[in-house]
Amino acid sequence: MMMFRILTLAFAALLCAVGARAEVVATHASPNGKIAVSVEINGEGMPGYRITRGGKELVGESRLGFLFTDAPKIQRNMQFVSKSTSGFDQSWEQPYGEWKTIRNRYNELNVMLGERDGLQRKFNIVFRIYDDGVGFRSEFPEQPNLKTANIAEELTQFNITRPATAWWNTATEFNREEYLINKTPIAEVGISQTPMTVKLDDGTHMSLHEAALVDYSAMNIQKVQDGLLKVVLTPSAVGPKVSRKLPFATPWRTLQIADNAAGLYASQLILNLNEPNKLGDVSWVRPRKYMGIWWGMHLDTQSWGSGPKHGATTAYTKYMMDFAAKHGFTGVLVEGWNEGWDGDWVANGDKFSFTKAYPDFDIKAVTAYGNKKGVKFIGHNETSAFAPNYEAQMDGAFALYHSLGMDAVKTGYVADAGGFKVNDAAGNLVYDWHEGQAAVRHHLKVVETAAKHKIAINAHEPVKDTGLRRTYPNWISREGQRGQEYNAWGWPKNPPEHEANMVFTRMLSGPMDFTPGVLSLKGRDDTDILSTIAKQLALYVVLYSPIQMAADLPENYEKHMAAFQFIKDVAVDWEDSRVIAGEVGDFAVLARKERGGKGLWFLGAVGDEQARNIPVKLDFLAPGKAYAAEIYRDGDDADYRTEKRFSIKIEKKKVKGGDAMLLKIAPGGGQAIRFVPN
Ligand code: NOJ
Ligand code: CA
Repeated sequence: MMMFRILTLAFAALLCAVGARAEVVATHASPNGKIAVSVEINGEGMPGYRITRGGKELVGESRLGFLFTDAPKIQRNMQFVSKSTSGFDQSWEQPYGEWKTIRNRYNELNVMLGERDGLQRKFNIVFRIYDDGVGFRSEFPEQPNLKTANIAEELTQFNITRPATAWWNTATEFNREEYLINKTPIAEVGISQTPMTVKLDDGTHMSLHEAALVDYSAMNIQKVQDGLLKVVLTPSAVGPKVSRKLPFATPWRTLQIADNAAGLYASQLILNLNEPNKLGDVSWVRPRKYMGIWWGMHLDTQSWGSGPKHGATTAYTKYMMDFAAKHGFTGVLVEGWNEGWDGDWVANGDKFSFTKAYPDFDIKAVTAYGNKKGVKFIGHNETSAFAPNYEAQMDGAFALYHSLGMDAVKTGYVADAGGFKVNDAAGNLVYDWHEGQAAVRHHLKVVETAAKHKIAINAHEPVKDTGLRRTYPNWISREGQRGQEYNAWGWPKNPPEHEANMVFTRMLSGPMDFTPGVLSLKGRDDTDILSTIAKQLALYVVLYSPIQMAADLPENYEKHMAAFQFIKDVAVDWEDSRVIAGEVGDFAVLARKERGGKGLWFLGAVGDEQARNIPVKLDFLAPGKAYAAEIYRDGDDADYRTEKRFSIKIEKKKVKGGDAMLLKIAPGGGQAIRFVPN
């Protein structure tokens, strides 16, 4: 008997060892054959996948599966059921965006896996393999022994087997997505939001993210050990992190893969993995530059609430609209116009009205005034993350806004992480997470309701961008990282490398309402912003958003009219976008071609705390064609650490497509150029 016991144990140990030698059940490659995916099942019946590029392993054996709150997990004892492959190649047009035409070309591998015995549950693992990366998701078909998936955790892993550096943003802490980006060896990643960027020892860059986050909880990534990473779904206030009736599919888990940082930005995989436009004609979604009654509140010279400092008065809004119209801006954001801001507005989200204005703000008068001047009133709906109050009012509010000629709203969800208020199934108020399934549902409900009334949504403290603007183009922009406002408050101010970090991390997910252009370079109490003037201009090209704010006060722009000219001239909607040089966290140079128009190109360059000379080739311009380059560069003595942060040189040069140019970037600096064809 004893002998039999020992033998059984030895056999079990052998099985574990065999577990490492998995059986490959399916493989498929990208259209150019370079990226390959294999699906395998190990000796314990655990399914997994691997990814290679050019024959080199990028992602080693990585497990798949799900934990449930009311059923045994689905991960062991699985077998291969069936597989199929298909291909796809179609181009589509973005109604607005970084690129006009996008090619969606991939090979698909669909593998059905099922439990050998017991509950015999099954799911498909579907890979879309692109030339620049891979997206995969789990699809649960209808089946007898799983009606509702109450998911405690998704057991998906990403096993990065080569030594690597990671740029990652802390997840599940109180300040939501607004932490400074960490740079560590991959083995020192904690819990990271996505996108997370990884640079392997051979220079390969990868971005880990998700696409089409619908009715599911957002994915974070946690280190298991060394380079082995796993999914950690955002928690829920009510038990399972995700609850879904079958059939359903998870969002796509994505790995964009490139030779360098620039290549990551060129990938359109996230948008491609989203469903096409569901809204039909969206000509009412208008890219624009706008000003706002906003920076004054962050400087604390004006207030959202009523009283002597109240910013949102009829008179001041008209003054702002006059200034905006004079300089070619087509929108004015007004915060603090509606009732509910007095007292502790962060705690009193249930008190906000989205239709009743303060007595000194005449919404009919300002919208009529603005409409005549071609300047839309952009209403602000701060909810303090009290979703039920917003959901009860939003349909009526959007109808009112539409009747007043408005076409855009900025929403806000100020609350610490874990303070997103929603109703549970029984109608009780619960404290949830900004990226949990309930919040994900809420945001889409807002966007769909707004679409009915032809209103575009720019969400702050949002759920992250997973490319849903393809499906719902009125989800025009969002925040979702530290914006300019930190430069007003401090705690701490954005460091010089912040934007060079963001281009290759946060910005890979989609547009950001960063609110650039503070040319006064001063925050609250006369404190300095860690930037040069030229860098503030460069941000309009570097940080993509179809709506870009000129965030500073009119009186400050009046002191910097020569530099302000670039903000007036810069486009917001693009035919084409390219990163022409860059390293994560060090520098980024982007060139973008204006959509429509006369063939104008714009270049934006940002650096970090170091002075740099960056050689670029103007080979994005038409070859040999002459252009007037209007250059806004750091003065030779410019430096973000001294009063010379204001030093800017504005000059015109004749250049030709294909010319070489040296961009001289000061510490904390940048450069902005408009290329006008002759
Ligand atoms: C935070 C937003 O990011 C900011 O733009 C807004 O002014 C405040 N919340 C108040 O809603
Ligand atoms: Ca750096």
